[in-house]
Amino acid sequence: MAGIKDVAAEAGVSVATVSRALNGHPSVSPAARARVLAAVAALGYRPNAVARSLRTDQTRTLGLVISDVLNPYFTSLARAVEEEARALGYSVIIGNADERPELQDHHVRTLLDRRIDGLLLSPTDPGSPLIPDAVRAGTPIVFVDRWVPGVQVPVVRADGRGAVADLVGHLLGLGHRRLAIIAGPAATTTGSERVDAFRAALREHGVALPDAYIGQGDFQAESGRRAAERFLDLPEPPDAVFAADNLMALGALDAIRARGLTVPGDIALAAFDDIPWFVHTDPPITAIAQPTEELGRAAVRALVERIGGHSPDSVTLPARLVVRRSCGASGPVEEPHTAAPIAHPHPHPHTTVRRSNP
Ligand code: HPA
Repeated sequence: MAGIKDVAAEAGVSVATVSRALNGHPSVSPAARARVLAAVAALGYRPNAVARSLRTDQTRTLGLVISDVLNPYFTSLARAVEEEARALGYSVIIGNADERPELQDHHVRTLLDRRIDGLLLSPTDPGSPLIPDAVRAGTPIVFVDRWVPGVQVPVVRADGRGAVADLVGHLLGLGHRRLAIIAGPAATTTGSERVDAFRAALREHGVALPDAYIGQGDFQAESGRRAAERFLDLPEPPDAVFAADNLMALGALDAIRARGLTVPGDIALAAFDDIPWFVHTDPPITAIAQPTEELGRAAVRALVERIGGHSPDSVTLPARLVVRRSCGASGPVEEPHTAAPIAHPHPHPHTTVRRSNP
């Protein structure tokens, strides 16, 4: 493979001139730059990023460790992170913890060993000592979506409390009285916050949340199915179920249908997180939508500020209720927020990049 010395020889300039020409340094004459670019093209030269990292002590690489790559929420988040990072000149290495603490540690350790410039983390295991250790060692870290209480790094997340209160008002307004929740793991902030928000909203209306109406899930579809089955086996089953993520909602929908029951005729169903196919289920599912793309972008910007030695503030954006048919409302069905296509930096002249959500 051609090296920088081969390019210099081919172009008839010094190695330093090649380096300056490729970095856009103004001291290189247009003629010399053109010779360098011609030599680069002729030899198929690729700059050695590893050598550059050793020189600059920067890899221009961010780590992103998410808890479940198969959960469409985290997939959308990863897409936005990757796009914003690219716009700011960074690549992203993604680690999928798959909701397994040991995998989270594996990814965090591997990414730190690879000398990423900073880490975005949505913790599966809030108790892992690797996280406070990395913070103490000065690694720039930003939490996104989930966070670890007591670890002093910026958090970029959505606040769903207002939207959960709207959902509870919506359910009660439609006549539902026995409201249940399928919760995520209490050890995760998203798991505990959603139950707390649901309970607080019910309390505002003088409605209790009995223990039997709290199903313990793990953010995976199978746990949603099992929790819904247990609800349906109760002597007095709930008449509305709120699943704390989209996968558990789909599991619950399966379980309800498997009993020959209908949504919303026999039981209402709502989900945290809006996903593109919630308009295509029968009925379309009422959901709490997070500004996922904005969260991903804001998290990258905060991390890059942190890498630059600044102390960015935490960012909290509101989630909102999207009413469809699964709780008994009629009326028009709102489309989910579909992520805009990724704009190519040099669009083909005959390609129109249409942003569906300007
Ligand atoms: N788990 C599952 N789905 C989610 C989460 C989470 O922590 N946050 C947003 N959607």
